[in-house]
Amino acid sequence: MTTIIDGKLIAQNLKDKLKTEITHLTKKYNKSPGLAVVQVGDVAASSVYVKAKTKSAKDVGIEVIDHHLDSQITQSELINLINKLNDQVNVNGILVQLPLPKHIDEQIILDTISPYKDADGFHPLNVGKLSINEKNDENLLIPCTPFGCLLLLKSLNIDLKGKNAVVIGRSNIVGKPMAQLLLKESCTVTIAHSKTINIETLCSKADILIAAIGKPEIVKKEWIKNNAIVIDVGINRMNINKEGEVKTKLVGDVDFREAKNKAFAITPVPGGVGPMTIACLLRNTTTAFKNSLN
Ligand code: GUN
Repeated sequence: MTTIIDGKLIAQNLKDKLKTEITHLTKKYNKSPGLAVVQVGDVAASSVYVKAKTKSAKDVGIEVIDHHLDSQITQSELINLINKLNDQVNVNGILVQLPLPKHIDEQIILDTISPYKDADGFHPLNVGKLSINEKNDENLLIPCTPFGCLLLLKSLNIDLKGKNAVVIGRSNIVGKPMAQLLLKESCTVTIAHSKTINIETLCSKADILIAAIGKPEIVKKEWIKNNAIVIDVGINRMNINKEGEVKTKLVGDVDFREAKNKAFAITPVPGGVGPMTIACLLRNTTTAFKNSLN
């Protein structure tokens, strides 16, 4: 029987643990962790994510400092705001929801966030620490989606050492940090991407397959090794025709119906990686808070 990995439940368990820890720390130090959430403009998907992140943060006892800015804000105005947040003592984590409008250079913005308040783990210092440190230390700030994927893998209680892992996608947000995390678990890691030759054959040899491509249901059963573990990072909106009506449905990068008959374990979409991204953001904010107390 294939295990359908319940990301919602695993994320809830992590959030419960964080809530207990935050309650204890808040009592002990008479202050609670603060997360500044910065959204520029009104990209619909970003609004959904920001709302979900804000609610979850409040649920575990994190104070949210909300900054919803006009899409016309200039780069230097945004930099000024981030510099203010860097100095603000009640702010332990800063999240700038991506993507930003085209006239703003995302990397310059991410570089401006203090590495000690980097709730997403995107600052070059934290990217560097992730690649240099040999272990996934408790006080590291780690990109949320790949960290969530790793926790889902660990929930299976199997030995990851020496496993052949293929990560499809080479983004700074998911693919590259995912590869670093798996390498630290002593997996043999390959990053595949849009220019990879014969990607299907490569993927079909993976014990662990992480799909972070952003194309609906592109990973078919032929791409999947028997008894592989499949983690689907994709969140794609697809139009479907239901009883003559066009509706939108959320699907992953993996053809779930096909893949679940071959995989040993697989994440669903929705309810797999998505909730873990949010839980790991709360974990990073709590980590930044704890680091600031030391
Ligand atoms: N946009 C898509 N994923 C993410 C994420 O993990 N963090 C931020 N800040 N923006 C995103």
